[in-house]
Amino acid sequence: MEDGEDEKMPEILSIQNLTIQLEQNRNILPVLFGLSLTVQKGEIFGIVGESGCGKSVLSNSIIGLQPEKMFASKGDIVFEGQSLLNKSKHQLQKMRGNEISMVFQNPMSSLNPSLTIGYQIIEIIRTHQKVSKKEAKEIAIEVMKKVGLPRADQLLYEYPHQLSGGMQQRVMIAIAIACQPKLLIADEPTTALDVTIQAQILKLLKEIRREQGTTILLISHDLGVMGEICDRIAVMYAGEIVEIGTTEQLFENPSHPYTKGLMQSIPSPDKKGKPLYSIAGTVPPLHERKGGCPFASRCQLSIEKCFESKPQLTKVSDAHDVRCYFSEIAEGNDEYARSSS
Ligand SMILES: Nc1ncnc2c1ncn2[C@@H]1O[C@H](COP(=O)(O)OP(=O)(O)OP(=O)(O)O)[C@@H](O)[C@H]1O
Ligand SMILES: [Mg+2]
Repeated sequence: MEDGEDEKMPEILSIQNLTIQLEQNRNILPVLFGLSLTVQKGEIFGIVGESGCGKSVLSNSIIGLQPEKMFASKGDIVFEGQSLLNKSKHQLQKMRGNEISMVFQNPMSSLNPSLTIGYQIIEIIRTHQKVSKKEAKEIAIEVMKKVGLPRADQLLYEYPHQLSGGMQQRVMIAIAIACQPKLLIADEPTTALDVTIQAQILKLLKEIRREQGTTILLISHDLGVMGEICDRIAVMYAGEIVEIGTTEQLFENPSHPYTKGLMQSIPSPDKKGKPLYSIAGTVPPLHERKGGCPFASRCQLSIEKCFESKPQLTKVSDAHDVRCYFSEIAEGNDEYARSSS
């Protein structure tokens, strides 16, 4: 950090009280509910939660690719001081791949199988930068080297199916960083890969942040993966953030019963031979989400109040917040103790 620079980096992305709803058979169902978070420039911010929590809806909404029939009914998404929800489709399209890029879970569904690797990387460069074909090819080769793709000048002429899953994901990352985006969103980028390749891709993401200063929003259902790489983590459950803090705070003092459950589910050498813990039940489908704490029906601690009204985000410590009535008690919140007795 430079002399005189504020320790807290300026924010690049701010999600403000975002509510996203799905219109289905004339019903309006909440998919994300009053979700707020800020991501600072240059950090790796993780969003973790089980399948169906709304991680992809959130990340796709940032770049204007949320599913049809889903719309933001409240709140805002602000990138570098500008509301993304107010931007036109055309404006968002211009930003995608340029200022904000995305890497998805399954490279084969994002790469075009009938176009060479080179074509696909060069195309994104030429879409966003005024460079000749020759210059774009040079940039492509440089980016391919950066993401650890071997024999780049040959690989340019190969097709996606000729590559392994790990190499395909490196190509996706090359496409995503080719125009040096300010924000890289990676939605489960390693889920389809085996553990060794997964570790390599995570290492690559760290290198990209270090070398290019890229801010990374990493989405995963695997808290173990998040612990390896993220500076801060938000834990999401049924469309809401239930806990948020630095990785250290979260791992040292997980405060929401859901976070604790996720922690227990992380495989580790000392759990070897024992059956791996999993939280009983599943994330409720959209039409079953009612008021109250969304985790109440799976929580071993829940009391009547948990089903009736939503707890507020409460401070556990500086920059560590949790949304659980039991943390309010732990913090000595007398009002809660009185109202629940
Ligand atoms: N196109 C769609 N139409 C209707 N409902 C959808 C659509 N896409 C997602 N949903 C619903 O929105 C909720 C959030 O889905 P989302 O895909 O964001 O979850 P996720 O956290 O990314 O899960 P996963 O870990 O499986 O990727 C789920 O209840 C899902 O069923
Ligand atoms: Mg998803």
